[in-house]
Amino acid sequence: MSANIRSVADLDVTGRRVFVRVDFNVPLSDSGAITDDSRIVAALPTIKHLVERGARVILGSHLGRPKGKSKDTSLLPVAARLAELLAPLVPEVRLTDEPVGDGARKVVMDMRDGDVVLLENLRWVAGEEKNDDAYAKALAGYAEVYVNDAFGTAHRAHASTAGMVKHFAAEARGAGFLLLREIEFLSKLLGSVRKPYVVVVGGAKVSDKIGVLENLSKVATSILIGGAMANTFLRAKGLDVGKSKVEEDKLGVAKNFLKTAEANKVEVLLPTDVIVAPGIDAAAGRAMLVEGIPSGEMALDIGPATVKLFRERIVTAQTVFWNGPLGLFEKASFAAGTMAVAEALAACQGTTVVGGGDSVAALSASGVADKISHISTGGGASLEFVEGQELPGIAALRMASEKRSSL
Ligand code: 3PG
Repeated sequence: MSANIRSVADLDVTGRRVFVRVDFNVPLSDSGAITDDSRIVAALPTIKHLVERGARVILGSHLGRPKGKSKDTSLLPVAARLAELLAPLVPEVRLTDEPVGDGARKVVMDMRDGDVVLLENLRWVAGEEKNDDAYAKALAGYAEVYVNDAFGTAHRAHASTAGMVKHFAAEARGAGFLLLREIEFLSKLLGSVRKPYVVVVGGAKVSDKIGVLENLSKVATSILIGGAMANTFLRAKGLDVGKSKVEEDKLGVAKNFLKTAEANKVEVLLPTDVIVAPGIDAAAGRAMLVEGIPSGEMALDIGPATVKLFRERIVTAQTVFWNGPLGLFEKASFAAGTMAVAEALAACQGTTVVGGGDSVAALSASGVADKISHISTGGGASLEFVEGQELPGIAALRMASEKRSSL
């Protein structure tokens, strides 16, 4: 797949201004501190490569979903963390006052070879999300070369991920190392996948995941469903799930999915037991068969028998894709199922791929992240990729190379 896309390693960058779209949309604490810098760390190979080649590196990212300029969506903490990570190779990372404008232009025009500048939050300008061409042109005007290394945002057709690409010559646009690695690993989940292929899906909403479930039910051997969304499937099968969260308007979708999976001879495993409690603030829960969930209680994690069953499928798989927590893992009393799934993936000898912020956070918390073949930096992007959709950020680069080959 990536064969149609030029790598940053093959671009002529020395002494040139290179715009790199990165995804530095990192989680921040209430006091504005970065709580997980993995997206910044993941972009370092591309940035360092460009610096070492003597490029002038202009980084662009969004943070959050701001409506205009706001202090709490400034990239200031990101610039500080990036400067720490790039030292001593890069002595300073300058942050512009706005994404575009006189101040930003001056900073960019004053750059020397090997300098790194971070533009302020690209979404402070409404034109970013509208994929406005005037904004795309303004951003493109800063650089002679375009690189996209923002896999996490590749599913958005925005000015910096899609619109501006056409303003660069075909031989002056390409993908960074992170984007190429994401494409390489996630492509292993499409087409002829090594089997048994086990998909583990959790999280709150059926609606967020039904696209990926439907697509994967054409290729997977087993689909294991946990998290709050499992309640909707259990209810669709006629079970009483007490006070558990159920998406009433998705019962039909859940029923159809179960029918299609059966017709495709794909095994779908729902929890056989769960950890129940009166509410999400309960200090502890107790294990209960799904047939016996009391009317005043809710399921907040998968139970020990389900953990055992899921683990058996996962450890013997050749390929595993996991997206979404299996329970309310932010609370220690309801984290066991999610942690056990993380450990089962770590014990699996096959290719293991994890996407989605919550599953990645759970992996880090369980201390087994280094035993996973690939941890995607994309949440929504990894799901859409695995659904089989062409992501606009990737398509923009691919079209460039297809045009090139047809010349
Ligand atoms: C993400 O965190 O999934 C990406 O950075 C995209 O952010 P968005 O959902 O606000 O477009």
